[in-house]
Amino acid sequence: MHGLRIEENIDVVVANAENAAGGSGLTPVIYHELIGAGIDCITMGDHVFRRREIYSIMRGETKIVRPANFPHEAPGHEFTVLTARNKVRVGVFCLLGRVFMAPVDCPFQAANRVLSAMAPNVKVILVDFHAEATSDMQLMGRHLDGRVSAVLGTHTHVPTADEQILPEGTAFQCDVGMTGPHESILGRRIDRVLETAKTFRPTHFEVATGDPRIHGTLVDVDPTTGRALAIGRLVINQAEASRLASLTREC
Ligand SMILES: [Fe+2]
Repeated sequence: MHGLRIEENIDVVVANAENAAGGSGLTPVIYHELIGAGIDCITMGDHVFRRREIYSIMRGETKIVRPANFPHEAPGHEFTVLTARNKVRVGVFCLLGRVFMAPVDCPFQAANRVLSAMAPNVKVILVDFHAEATSDMQLMGRHLDGRVSAVLGTHTHVPTADEQILPEGTAFQCDVGMTGPHESILGRRIDRVLETAKTFRPTHFEVATGDPRIHGTLVDVDPTTGRALAIGRLVINQAEASRLASLTREC
């Protein structure tokens, strides 16, 4: 991550880590590993509480947020405001979609509530919309167009080719994709998932290991207005990751 930051001149890195603990949930140890690796803020999704030991991190740390459309009593913060490397304040929150997902509170109302609670001088705001259906994601993009800097989707594990800047200046992409084994079914071993799909016999869906890739999206934002200036997809394979790691060693 440090090499990537150097090469792309990145001021702030936000990552969804809801599946970082062996494919589901997040643990305190992995949380600290990710922050130590150069991630500035972690968003979560429908698997946020799969590992109970994360509750204390969710409550006590300011570099991680839970979905803002969870009940108020759920552990964790609805949003956070960080200071990027270029000293710009950056607001971050995440929301869950409702189409083909477990029931949650209205994400549109939750987004309104969070934005009204955030200090008005926070101009740069990133929203992770963790959702299954592209229609749901597009609706959130339009709901927040001109009110936040970026609405970037996660959850499907597959990057979509619709990165764009919406008419009022919000960067948008339905899904930024997965960082993990590309040779897989959504990160799990192909043979196991295929066996269960074909026979209905339950198997253990082990996390796959083949062809690890980093998928992500780079957004350039005007810090004075919060409007997005550019958006681009990012794909890094293992060879490229090794080259970036060597940049870090040279510094
Ligand atoms: Fe998810």
